[in-house]
Amino acid sequence: MRASIAAVLTALLLGQVDAAGVTGTAFGFASGTTGGGSAAAATPSSLAQLKEWITDNVARTIMIDREWDFTGAEGTTTGKCCSTSTTTCSGGTSKGQAWIQDTCDQGTWISCTYDNAAKSPLNVGSNKSIVGVGSKGVLKGKGLRVRGGNSNVIIQNIHITDLNPQYVWGGDAITLDGADKVWIDHKKFSLIGRQMIVSGWNAAGHVTISNNEFDGVTSWSASCNGKHYWTLLLLGAADWYTFAGNWLHDVSGRAPHMGTDYDASKIYFHGVNNYFQNVGGHAFDVDTNIWLLLEGNYFDAVTTPMTDNSLTRGGQLYTTTTVASASDCLAQLGYLCEWNRASGSGTWPDRTDSAVLAQFANYKQDLIGHTGVATVPANVTAHAGVGRL
Ligand SMILES: *[C@@H]1O[C@H](CO)[C@@H](O)[C@H](O)[C@H]1NC(C)=O
Ligand SMILES: *[C@@H]1O[C@H](CO)[C@@H](O)[C@H](O)[C@H]1NC(C)=O
Repeated sequence: MRASIAAVLTALLLGQVDAAGVTGTAFGFASGTTGGGSAAAATPSSLAQLKEWITDNVARTIMIDREWDFTGAEGTTTGKCCSTSTTTCSGGTSKGQAWIQDTCDQGTWISCTYDNAAKSPLNVGSNKSIVGVGSKGVLKGKGLRVRGGNSNVIIQNIHITDLNPQYVWGGDAITLDGADKVWIDHKKFSLIGRQMIVSGWNAAGHVTISNNEFDGVTSWSASCNGKHYWTLLLLGAADWYTFAGNWLHDVSGRAPHMGTDYDASKIYFHGVNNYFQNVGGHAFDVDTNIWLLLEGNYFDAVTTPMTDNSLTRGGQLYTTTTVASASDCLAQLGYLCEWNRASGSGTWPDRTDSAVLAQFANYKQDLIGHTGVATVPANVTAHAGVGRL
C-alpha cells in the first residue's frame, strides 16, 4: 500500500500518467524491441521537457498528446539556395524545390529563407517509446534520429510534418545512423524537405517499418508533378528491415531506394503487403549489397514499380511473380510466398535470385506472414497512418 502510494506520487511528480503507452508488440526484424518498456507513460508539458525526455539516457514512455510546433523555435536562416530546372519546373504541373547546398554548378543562386529546427533532428536516447495519443500526436518542423549506438526505440502513431518542404536538404523525418532495434509504426509523413526515412552510413540494425502513411502530396516537388521524390533512402552498413502494411501514395521516387556499393554494406529487406498508390515516378530503386524478398505488395497506378537499373546493379531480388516462384519459397522458408500485383502500372519484373531464399532461410523466425494481395488496397488504406491503432 505504502509502496503504491509512493509510486503514484512519483508518477504525478514526473508528469501526467497515461495508462495507454505502446499498442501491440514489435514484430519482424525488430522483434524484441521494447522501447521504454515498463516506464510509466508520461506527457511532457513544454517543448523543453519534450526535448529532454526524447534525448536523455532514461527509459521513458513519452506520450505526444498535441502538435508540438518547432517551427521558428530555433530561428531561420536567410541565404542563397540553388535553383535548377527542378526548381523552376518549366512545363511541370507543380512548383519545384530549391536546393540548400554549397555548390550550384547546374543552376543559379537565388535567395531563400528556411527554418533551422527542421535541419537538426532530435537525437533519440536508448529505451524510448514515443507514442501519439489518438490522432493528436504531431511533430511539426522537427525530425527524429537514432544514432551513435543507441537502440531499442519505438516511434508510434505520430505525424511528422513541415520540414522545410520547399527545399531539398530541408530536413529528414527519421534518420537511423548507428542504431539497432527500432520499430516505426502507424506514423504519417508529409511535407518533408528531404527523406521521410533515411539510413546510413552506419548500421540501422534491426528495423520494422509498419503501417505507416507516406503522403507525398506537395506543392514543391523535385519531379515537378506535385508528388514528393525523396521517400526512403536505405544505405546502412548492416540492416535488416521488415517493411509491412505501409501506404506510399502520391510520391515520385525512392519509394524506396536501397543498397549501396559503399564499403561492406549488407541490407536484408522483407517487403510484405505494402500498398503503392499513384506513384508518378518509381517505387523500388535497388543498388547492390541487397537481399530483397517482396511478397503481397500491390502497385496501383505506379509509373515504374521497379527501375530497370535495379535489375543490373548486383542486388539479389526475389519478386514473386509466378506460381513457381511462390511455391519455391516452401522448401527454403517453410511457407508459400504471396504474389505481388501491378495494376494500371508499369511492368513488375520477374526475378528469382536463389541467394535471396538461401539468406532469408537463416531468419525464418523474423519472417512475418502475409495476407492475400487482393485485400491490400482496402486493408492498408483503412489501417495505415495516425489514429488507426
Ligand atoms: C537500455 O536498457 C537496457 C536493458 O535494460 C540497459 O542494459 C541499457 O543500459 C539501457 N540503456 C540506457 C542508455 O539506459
Ligand atoms: C489487415 O491489416 C492488418 C494489419 O494492418 C492485418 O493484421 C490483417 O491481417 C489484415 N487483414 C486482411 C484481411 O488482410
